[in-house]
Amino acid sequence: MSRVVVAGSFNVDHVWHCAALPRPGETLAGEYSTGPGGKGFNQAVASALAGADTTFVCALGDDDGGRLARRLAAAHGIDLRAQDSEAATGTAGIYVDDDGANSIVIGPGANAALSPDFVAAQGEAIAAADVVLAQLESPLDAIVEALRRARAHGAHTVLNPAPANAPCSRELLAVAEVLTPNETEFAGLLARHCGGDIEPGTLARMDEEHLHRLCRTLLPRGTVVLTLGAAGCFVSHREDSLHGDESPHYRCPAAKADVVDTTGAGDAFNGALAASLARGAALPFATHVRYATRYAALSTERAGAAASMPRADEVASRFPDA
Ligand code: RIB
Ligand code: NA
Repeated sequence: MSRVVVAGSFNVDHVWHCAALPRPGETLAGEYSTGPGGKGFNQAVASALAGADTTFVCALGDDDGGRLARRLAAAHGIDLRAQDSEAATGTAGIYVDDDGANSIVIGPGANAALSPDFVAAQGEAIAAADVVLAQLESPLDAIVEALRRARAHGAHTVLNPAPANAPCSRELLAVAEVLTPNETEFAGLLARHCGGDIEPGTLARMDEEHLHRLCRTLLPRGTVVLTLGAAGCFVSHREDSLHGDESPHYRCPAAKADVVDTTGAGDAFNGALAASLARGAALPFATHVRYATRYAALSTERAGAAASMPRADEVASRFPDA
């Protein structure tokens, strides 16, 4: 069985669907719904539904949100390792417009309490993992602990450096074997760590060689999978570590989707990438990227974050050659 450990956040999402995203000073009416979210949990659900034996390491409050997380983890067969926090379970306020685009504000709550000690106490699960996946909605030292331990045990590590404004250290980048930024996150990381100055929104059209050089500068020792939304993604490997691919850099087109809500699409991509990598590390890396792209496309056709993650058989029937 392939095993994935996800370390990260759980949030209760409060979502308003409105015609357009609100501007400063504006009051709008929208249709309200609530559901499970948090980048960590969304990725764990995607990993589990994509077929991996999944452990989720997080911090929860002693409240309805915490109970929701426990109930849903059990329903998905996710092995939940939750640190108890006196703070309330994390929350997110999300606006989604008619095009499926979103704006999100998070209230970290209990997520901010996840400690390196608690992560270290899950050492056995991490040691047994094929892939350990993390994001930046949890404290940096806890995430470093998870990925550092994973590397020490020979597991693959995937770091999704989201959200864009969260701190991300050199130390953390050094233990990320695969880094999966979106355009904004990539531009921010380049600016902070390499003095780079690129406009997000220009990467989809950028010359491949140039993009590859930027990726090499940011993560000289690992693979960068730059996600570009509807433009698919760009993969850049270290020249002497191609993970079964034929080329050190290439683009992968996005799969077609009737977009309803892009909330959690990046999480769908990351969870599916981790599950696919865990299942077949010997396969060409492009295979995993293509699967993740398709999995993420299907997730955008449904409303919600964790609730929008498709099952593996739904991906297979929609994309018969997957
Ligand atoms: O990536 C989407 C997620 O970001 C939402 O579920 C929200 O909780 C925030 O963490
Ligand atoms: Na969605």
